[in-house]
Amino acid sequence: MADRTPLVAGNWKMNTTPAEGVALATALAAELPGGQDGVEIVVCPPFTHLEGVAAALEGHPVAVMAQTIHDQAKGAHTGEVSAAMVLGTGATGTIIGHSERRAAGETDEMVAARVRAALDAGLFVILCCGESLEQREAGETEAWVKGQVAAALGVVTRDETDRLAIAYEPIWAIGTGKTATPEMAQETCAQVRAAAAGFIDADAVRVLYGGSVNADNAAQLMGQPDIDGALVGGASLDAAGFATIVRAAA
Ligand code: 13P
Repeated sequence: MADRTPLVAGNWKMNTTPAEGVALATALAAELPGGQDGVEIVVCPPFTHLEGVAAALEGHPVAVMAQTIHDQAKGAHTGEVSAAMVLGTGATGTIIGHSERRAAGETDEMVAARVRAALDAGLFVILCCGESLEQREAGETEAWVKGQVAAALGVVTRDETDRLAIAYEPIWAIGTGKTATPEMAQETCAQVRAAAAGFIDADAVRVLYGGSVNADNAAQLMGQPDIDGALVGGASLDAAGFATIVRAAA
């Protein structure tokens, strides 16, 4: 098995003001002085906070990433933000294809274009996939996530494997307090990894689990053989709690 460094990312979603974001990042840095051995730590604040949070974390081993980007480099796209703009803030990557964005209209084609644009600009990508409760109950989970992974990784080359991670986030577990069992999460993360094999070095890519990860369940989830970290929503808004999850990944 390839040596996959665990990655723990906090997706702040649309939470905190810029000042609160800087305070949260500063508190996290204080919780984890020098970072955490053997774990890559990431925070994903709103666009408006990227520059301030990146400045607050300068010299500290916590990477700052955006929550999405637009696929075009510039132009008449009111309200959108390009990969180069994100890179210019000091951020080094971005989430792409979060289910909350897909629910608002982001298609597989848009996700693929955004993945390509992010990689072309030099950003790291956390690609998200995951099924709805209806899909899980209908037994469609594997086919669905494999389709999402294939659609997005179709634009990625094998030598770009270390420039992305894939987060499996069952929609029914996001923000609900209803976590997938470690066995369930393991099973689908293994399927995600298998789906990636046609496109990248699947043995080397980090597959993360997301969906109501907290300080109590993190160690068991990340202890599964195909789960290489976590994408954390609500629990990442508390510095001490997020630091506990980071330590659980070590
Ligand atoms: P919660 O951890 O709040 O369930 O959110 C998960 C998520 O969507 C992270 O991207």
